[in-house]
Amino acid sequence: MIRRQYQKLMTYFYDPFMKSTEKILLMHRKELLQQVQGEVLEVGSGTGINFDLYPDKNAHIYGIEPSLPMYKKAKKRLQNKSNITLYNIGIENVLQQKDLPDQYDFIISMLVLCTVKDAEKAARLYYKLLKNNGKLLVLEHIHSTGKFYGKIQTLVNPLWKPFADGCNLTRRQDIILKNNGFEAIEESYFNYGTDWYQATMIKKHKS
Ligand SMILES: C[S@@+](CC[C@H](N)C(=O)[O-])C[C@H]1O[C@@H](n2cnc3c(N)ncnc32)[C@H](O)[C@@H]1O
Repeated sequence: MIRRQYQKLMTYFYDPFMKSTEKILLMHRKELLQQVQGEVLEVGSGTGINFDLYPDKNAHIYGIEPSLPMYKKAKKRLQNKSNITLYNIGIENVLQQKDLPDQYDFIISMLVLCTVKDAEKAARLYYKLLKNNGKLLVLEHIHSTGKFYGKIQTLVNPLWKPFADGCNLTRRQDIILKNNGFEAIEESYFNYGTDWYQATMIKKHKS
């Protein structure tokens, strides 16, 4: 009950809070999302910020969002978008949702592996859910590699995490994904406020 009220508050302030960061992220989002086609799983759609960036043709987007207030807000952004379907579930429940595809051509993981409870498990599910020739598109903030800033993040994280509805400042999503069967065919690291990781990843070929 208290969590739901807090999530409502978070949902209300999320877009204004992210406004200046999003000016920078938009370019990265566009670059990644312009390539999608076929069946696409967007993990943690949030307020639906990506919905306008998907191509209108040749792609069907299945968005999943477990927070009810976020889901409701994203749903409002869906008007006239017949190629996007939104579900109020988390990544852990995708395989049980009978009307969702078993596997996807693209999986979108943007600002979400910081927040899922078990990022290793989520990465394993990404692997299972991605077709063998599919692509995982990643835009995630990661634990800073700078010694000073990295230490500050470690110190601040216990306060930040409950404030930001479970978001961790101290994860290395790049490493987690690589340790769970993915390799990057394109990747870049950039700094904007914190360290960010952008990548197009595929399943590692088993030798
Ligand atoms: C920081 S927001 C980012 C939203 C959006 N992806 C974006 O790029 O702006 C993280 C989102 O991940 C969602 N989330 C948390 N745990 C999740 C899970 N287990 N499966 C899917 N989404 C999850 C949260 O509810 C939240 O909406």
